[in-house]
Amino acid sequence: MRRNRVLSCLLVGFVLMCAVGAQLTTTFYDTSCPALQSIVRRLVLQAIVTETRMAASLLRMHFHDCFVNGCDASLLLDDTATVTGEKTAAPNNNSVRGFDVIDTIKTAVENNCSKTVSCADIVAIAARDSVLFSGGPSWSVLLGRRDATTVNGTAPNFVIPSPVDNLTEIIRKFADVGLSITDVVSLSGGHTIGRARCATFNNRLFDFNSSGSPDPTLESTMLATLQVTCPPSGDNSTLVSLDRRSRDWFDNAYFKNLQSNNGLLLSDQELYSSSNAQTKALVDTYSASPSTFSTDFVNSMIKMGNISPLTGTAGEIRTNCRVVNS
Ligand code: HEM
Ligand SMILES: *[C@@H]1O[C@H](CO)[C@@H](O)[C@H](O)[C@H]1NC(C)=O
Ligand SMILES: *[C@@H]1O[C@H](CO)[C@@H](O)[C@H](O)[C@H]1NC(C)=O
Ligand SMILES: *[C@@H]1O[C@H](CO)[C@@H](O)[C@H](O)[C@H]1NC(C)=O
Ligand SMILES: *[C@@H]1O[C@H](CO)[C@@H](O)[C@H](O)[C@H]1NC(C)=O
Ligand SMILES: *[C@@H]1O[C@H](CO)[C@@H](O)[C@H](O)[C@H]1NC(C)=O
Repeated sequence: MRRNRVLSCLLVGFVLMCAVGAQLTTTFYDTSCPALQSIVRRLVLQAIVTETRMAASLLRMHFHDCFVNGCDASLLLDDTATVTGEKTAAPNNNSVRGFDVIDTIKTAVENNCSKTVSCADIVAIAARDSVLFSGGPSWSVLLGRRDATTVNGTAPNFVIPSPVDNLTEIIRKFADVGLSITDVVSLSGGHTIGRARCATFNNRLFDFNSSGSPDPTLESTMLATLQVTCPPSGDNSTLVSLDRRSRDWFDNAYFKNLQSNNGLLLSDQELYSSSNAQTKALVDTYSASPSTFSTDFVNSMIKMGNISPLTGTAGEIRTNCRVVNS
């Protein structure tokens, strides 16, 4: 896996030769595409006005892109006759959405400044705008990522956290991409918006860990509701709000849910209910302090957006986000 590398040096004879890898900057497109931010913002708003949930979907797209070989828009590549990409891997198939919105934005950006802006950067800006339009915090997005020309279609199965992973596994997967326990908890707060299919949490509802009973940490009224919504023989793609208190509003209610055993995914509730005192304390902190949650979420989003970017002359600026340039 690529690592962040700002400086790489080579000792050649007596001369130390160093190549400074380009770092992401907030001003990257200021002269090459000054209208970029306003184009993305307008079209993200349009998409969210059409469908509120799209904010959540675009935020999640950035996460699933960044965890797999870095934020390089590899997730956006369609399968071809010869290459199976990330899109149809189990964690993404029929689950990650919003690709059409990115296509619309990319077309508008290409029309304004062609062959200049990467798909990976568009996804990063769209995620920020989605949080902002949902009532959450804003931040300056670091830019200058380039797009992958290769894809590993099995990698998502190993590196993307699963909703049935235990907390130890989730912490390990975050650590593998350089993210801390604080990042695990603050970024899980992304589940303050959006939906999940029954298939992602129905293991908790009837026969948890083959115990013959539901997950004991699931609050009883919520359990009863979910058992009706997600019956064993039902449609596993039925959608349920990740944050039942304020499903489309970006706030800290997600953490209050966890304190009252109202977390939807096992991976959500484990932040509070497993034996990890550190994640539990962070849940308490974010539940008590919306501003601390906002600050930490922003810091963690910037860290996540910095996972192994392709910069300089690595990769390419894709013209169509779904296919590698020919
Ligand atoms: C901590 C590990 C995580 C796990 C196990 C996890 C798991 C999931 C699952 C299973 C879903 C529902 C998918 C479906 O039913 O199709 C989901 C949705 C979502 N996730 Fe996560 N997630 C995690 C972290 C994150 C992070 C870091 C973010 C972003 C900061 C995020 C943002 C979202 C959003 C916004 C949705 C709703 C998407 C929509 O409605 O289209 N998640 N997540
Ligand atoms: C992805 O989902 C589609 C539609 O449900 C299905 O036909 C296809 O087999 C799935 N792909 C993989 C690789 O599981
Ligand atoms: C790009 O968009 C800006 C702002 O809308 C506009 O002023 C400019 O003329 C556009 N450039 C092109 C080449 O379309
Ligand atoms: C794809 O990713 C997996 C998991 O990270 C890794 O084990 C495998 O070697 C990768 N395959 C290729 C061809 O890089
Ligand atoms: C967490 O899951 C991993 C992988 O399935 C397993 O090896 C480990 O024992 C589990 N840890 C706990 C505390 O349950
Ligand atoms: C629904 O999910 C459960 C648990 O994951 C699974 O056992 C069942 O076969 C699924 N049902 C359908 C109709 O896919």
